[in-house]
Formats: sequence, structure tokens, C-alpha cells
Amino acid sequence: MTRRRLLAANWKMYKTVGESLAWARELCRQAEAEPWPADRDVVVCPTLPALAGLAQRLTAVHVAVGAQNLDPGREGALTGAVSGYLLREAGARYVLVGHSERRRHFGETDLMVADKVESAIAAGLIPIVCVGETAAERERGDTEAVIHRQVGAVLGQLATPYAALVVAYEPVWAIGSGQAPHPAEANEVAAAVRRDVTEAWGDAGRTLRVLYGGSVNAGNLGAFWAEPDIDGALVGGASLDVRQFLAMARLPG
Ligand code: PGA
Repeated sequence: MTRRRLLAANWKMYKTVGESLAWARELCRQAEAEPWPADRDVVVCPTLPALAGLAQRLTAVHVAVGAQNLDPGREGALTGAVSGYLLREAGARYVLVGHSERRRHFGETDLMVADKVESAIAAGLIPIVCVGETAAERERGDTEAVIHRQVGAVLGQLATPYAALVVAYEPVWAIGSGQAPHPAEANEVAAAVRRDVTEAWGDAGRTLRVLYGGSVNAGNLGAFWAEPDIDGALVGGASLDVRQFLAMARLPG
């Protein structure tokens, strides 16, 4: 089973609309001069105000745009909320769901995450479900139990298998810290995610793409990609710099 590699950028709350478009202009210029291999999907998740403009600009180089969050439901009297349908219409194809910063700072629970995943799929977006243990959970030896619980909540919510699902394994302690786990260790967790999905859904476990995220850069991405159960990466800080991002997109393998 060959799964397409996926490289996704998470810009968090960085870059104005102007800065986002300047990044996109430079990416397009460089990609036209020297394209990256066609065997991979490249996705950028900018801030919400930049999403529609970036989606328009990046189609020329086959880069998809993703949102960083969505509100479940379609429309309604919900001041400040943005649904998957609105994001899809604005040009998003993917959406991050349950990033650890959303779980921690915005109180998102496993059930809320599962609900969002379901409504993302209903809106025609591909959810990238983020899971990962904290440093304390890791020290207690609870990593797999935490992942099992987080993935299980999503599997429990979806009535039918969804073959395009993407799960990003992001240890909370590795995000923005410069400390990534050993690739083989990350692969063990990725394999555990795949086992859970395969047990619940059969074949969809084999098409499931599992990303690694947390202090990924052009220097260490290759080692994660070389692992059999890791299909790509979710990159924060290093994706803000267009040259570093291009170096990752062009990585062989
Ligand atoms: P980082 O962030 O690459 O800056 O560690 C990853 C993420 O939060 O998705």
C-alpha cells in the first residue's frame, strides 16, 4: 500500500495577510523555477484572514490550504464562529482539528474534537486530527493510553470508515521546544494509531496517513519520513520561512 506523503505547515497566529501573500509569491516563484517531486501533497494552514487569498494564489503550484480550526455545524446565530462549510467555500481543503494548543488554551475535549472531525468531513474538508501526550504523561508511561483515548474518541464518533483521514502525532513536549523524539519512537506511536484505526475500520487503517509533528525542520524531516508508519509531517516554526519550507518540500524520498 503506497500512501502519498503529506507536508503540512501550521502557521498558528503568525503572519499578516500581506506577509502570507509575500510568502506565497516567493514559493510560487521558486516552485516554478524548480518544482518539488509530484509524489507528495503540500498544505499550508495560515491564519483565517489570509486563507481565501492564499488559496487563490497557491492553486497554481498545487499547494492546498487548510484552516487551523472549525466550529461544528453549518450556520447559525453563533457570533464569531466559522463552520467547515464556510472554510470550504473560502478555499480550504484541509482543517487541523484538536491541536494541543486548542486543547490546552481553548478547552477542547476529546468529544469536542470528535464532533469537529465529523462536521469537517460532512463539509468536504479533510481533517488532520492532532493527538499527543504531555511530558508528564510520557514520564508516567501513559503515551499509548493517551493516544488510544484521543484516537478512540474520533473513531467512536464516525459511523462509517473515512479513508482520507489524517492523524498528526505531535508530542506536546516536542512542539516548539527544539526537542523531537527519536524517529523510531515516533514511529511506534504512529504504528499504534494505525493499529487502532485498522481494528475499527479495516482497510481504511492502511490508507490512513499519519504525520509526525513537533520541532520538525529541514534537517530532521528525512529521518521521520524514512520510518514505515510515518507518511509526512506537520511543521510549525520551520514552515514560516519559505526557504526552509521549500527545502522540506524538495526532500528526496
Ligand atoms: P513546531 O510546531 O514545528 O514549531 O514544533 C508544530 C505544531 O505545533 O504543529
